[in-house]
Amino acid sequence: MGEQIKIFDTTLRDGEQSPGCSMNLQEKIQMAKQLELLKVDVIEAGFAIASQGDFISVKEIAKNVKNCTVASLARALPKDIDCAWEAVKYAEKPRIHTFIATSDIHMKYKLKMRPEEVLENAINMVKYAKKYCEDIEFSAEDATRSNPEFLARIFEKVIEAGATVINIPDTVGYTTPDEFYSLIKTIKEKVSNIHKAEISVHCHNDLGMAVANTIAAAKAGATQLECTINGIGERAGNAALEEIVMALNTRRDFFDLDCNIDTTQIMRSSKLLSTITGIHVQPNKAIVGANAFAHESGIHQHGVLNERSTYEIMTPESIGLSNNTMVLGKHSGRHAFEERLKMLGYTLSKEELDVAFKEFKDLADKKKVIYNRDIEAIITKDSTKIPKVYKLKRFIINSGNSITATASVMLKYNDVEIEDVSTGDGPVDAAFKAIEKIVDMELILEDYYLHSVTEGKDAQGEAIVKIRKDKRIYTGRGISTDVIEASIKAYVNAVNKMLYEIYSQEKEKNVS
Ligand code: KIV
Ligand code: ZN
Repeated sequence: MGEQIKIFDTTLRDGEQSPGCSMNLQEKIQMAKQLELLKVDVIEAGFAIASQGDFISVKEIAKNVKNCTVASLARALPKDIDCAWEAVKYAEKPRIHTFIATSDIHMKYKLKMRPEEVLENAINMVKYAKKYCEDIEFSAEDATRSNPEFLARIFEKVIEAGATVINIPDTVGYTTPDEFYSLIKTIKEKVSNIHKAEISVHCHNDLGMAVANTIAAAKAGATQLECTINGIGERAGNAALEEIVMALNTRRDFFDLDCNIDTTQIMRSSKLLSTITGIHVQPNKAIVGANAFAHESGIHQHGVLNERSTYEIMTPESIGLSNNTMVLGKHSGRHAFEERLKMLGYTLSKEELDVAFKEFKDLADKKKVIYNRDIEAIITKDSTKIPKVYKLKRFIINSGNSITATASVMLKYNDVEIEDVSTGDGPVDAAFKAIEKIVDMELILEDYYLHSVTEGKDAQGEAIVKIRKDKRIYTGRGISTDVIEASIKAYVNAVNKMLYEIYSQEKEKNVS
């Protein structure tokens, strides 16, 4: 067995703070539980001081996650550290992750502090955090553009002050694999007490090298790798968890490194994140893209049919992609449906199974063959159980290329039916405007797209709608074999999420 590497997932912090990736409390808890199933070692649950919402999310994740360390980010400031501790203290294994920038450019222009002041502050804040918590991570922001001598000094001092993990971030995605490898080696050589701390790395993808840099660092001796599902994160994103893990697994012969990740949960983690955020990965994305295991050319297909390893360096099953292509249809019974769910890794309660089976039967009436992706779309559709304040009752559309589109939409608001009519630039626009009239709120449509869940003319359409109210963006999702219905459902879902968040915030204010 090779050296054990820890996987630190920051999907819910660095990932969540990137544009279009915001999640509500229920969604963050759901994602955290999936990360627990994936067996990451550390979940960075958020930046507790950033907002009341962030604080509550970190606190709730800390209460709900049992098997992973739960960390909160904190600037090197007492008020940040107090707040981080207040949120993570409920965790079985809490961690405070504090950071300060160490590059000349950041110290001079952002912090307006001299290196000696930064050093003193880092030491003091690690000591301050240590009063609360045994496990303290210290990050030297913009480490790859910092003076290596200064970095080594600051790391030695913070380890002396009690840091258990020192993190070396490539904050702006600037380094290269060889350079980063050397930097890690230098830190290992120059920091006399380095054996007392874990060496962590955190790479951004601005030059498309985040995964390569992370892996080079692991080869040089870093033992904690920070990453996100699907590589989401600031700007071009962070190093993608699935790519790092599968590289280590597939090339164990070269790296001789092991980690705890249950790789069969990779696909589900990736899909769950896409479902929640409405941000899908590109088809050719390594590991989790739709084409990652598709063999199109005749020569490749022939090779794979004879012997899979000719063109497959890892199996689809190893990341949790099922190879069962047997389709279900309208004659499939409850037992077959239940068996398929089990095979896909879903365990539903009896009530959830009743609902899902009914939806499956309804779909089978409209669609000849039901694929695994159809079933997953049914199961994950309402996976975050936010109250359905508004429900679609019915809609009528009148549209064509020589008339103005008109939509009449009736929603149920709790038990009251409300109907309104609007014209628009096409049927979807008209329907959205009718809904806006019903909910009586000014909403901005930030993004809308539609794609088919599977191939085939009778495929289900999945609509993703992003609406903005004030500064917050809410993502809604709807599926149906009718694309207008999918779009309306997605819009209503986004409105319900918005109302749920506003209501939760009001409730929280009244309690505190
Ligand atoms: O990119 C970065 O430097 C960070 C730190 C706060 C760890 O996200
Ligand atoms: Zn970062």
